[in-house]
Amino acid sequence: MKYTLAFACSQDGFIAKHSKDNPFEWTSKEDQNHLQTLISENEWQVMGRTTHELNPNHNRKRIVFSRQSKEIELIKKDIPDQFYFNPDLHQWSDFEKICSGNVLILGGTSVHDFFIYAELVDTIHITIEPHTFNGGVRAFSYINFKDYKPYFLSRNYSYEEKTLNDNGSILISFNKNS
Ligand SMILES: NC(=O)c1ccc[n+]([C@@H]2O[C@H](COP(=O)([O-])OP(=O)(O)OC[C@H]3O[C@@H](n4cnc5c(N)ncnc54)[C@H](OP(=O)(O)O)[C@@H]3O)[C@@H](O)[C@H]2O)c1
Repeated sequence: MKYTLAFACSQDGFIAKHSKDNPFEWTSKEDQNHLQTLISENEWQVMGRTTHELNPNHNRKRIVFSRQSKEIELIKKDIPDQFYFNPDLHQWSDFEKICSGNVLILGGTSVHDFFIYAELVDTIHITIEPHTFNGGVRAFSYINFKDYKPYFLSRNYSYEEKTLNDNGSILISFNKNS
């Protein structure tokens, strides 16, 4: 089982302009293609309730974090592979029993925080789009945008950077050294 965390952000480090923002309105085609590739490579997705509700998709296998969930339970009775999970109450071994394949972590802030704090993440992909928001939803609550590179390098990740297009979209990736 491998955990991959991926998000797109503005060049000042915000993953959304506000909590109901849809990033598809400002991400590049290249980032959207990259995301589709990641979705096809990972059997399961994990996200917070807000992100799930903004992007409903009945065909994807999802674990949705929510503190409203007292039990690990189906989000909708007629959709077999989408569950609410509350990491404050539920066992991680039960999460890993449900997710038999690779897992793609898709935000938002406190879901990113949880996986980085738990040191579960093998690969991090960050698309930096050529926009400035001057505020909004942060990617992590406790890591500043300008500190990503030193933070992850100091935690035994390697760093790669790739130009995605002529508009200035950049993909940076961190891979955990084994
Ligand atoms: N640019 C990108 O790549 C990207 C990626 C993802 C999301 N986004 C954007 O980010 C915004 C949403 O992000 P957000 O941070 O505001 O919300 P979010 O993480 O999507 O959802 C927050 C909710 O998830 C649940 N949750 C999160 N962490 C939890 C934990 N550790 N334990 C239990 N429950 C947890 C809680 O649900 P309950 O209230 O039910 O307890 C919480 O209210 C949207 O605009 C979305 O489009 C952008």
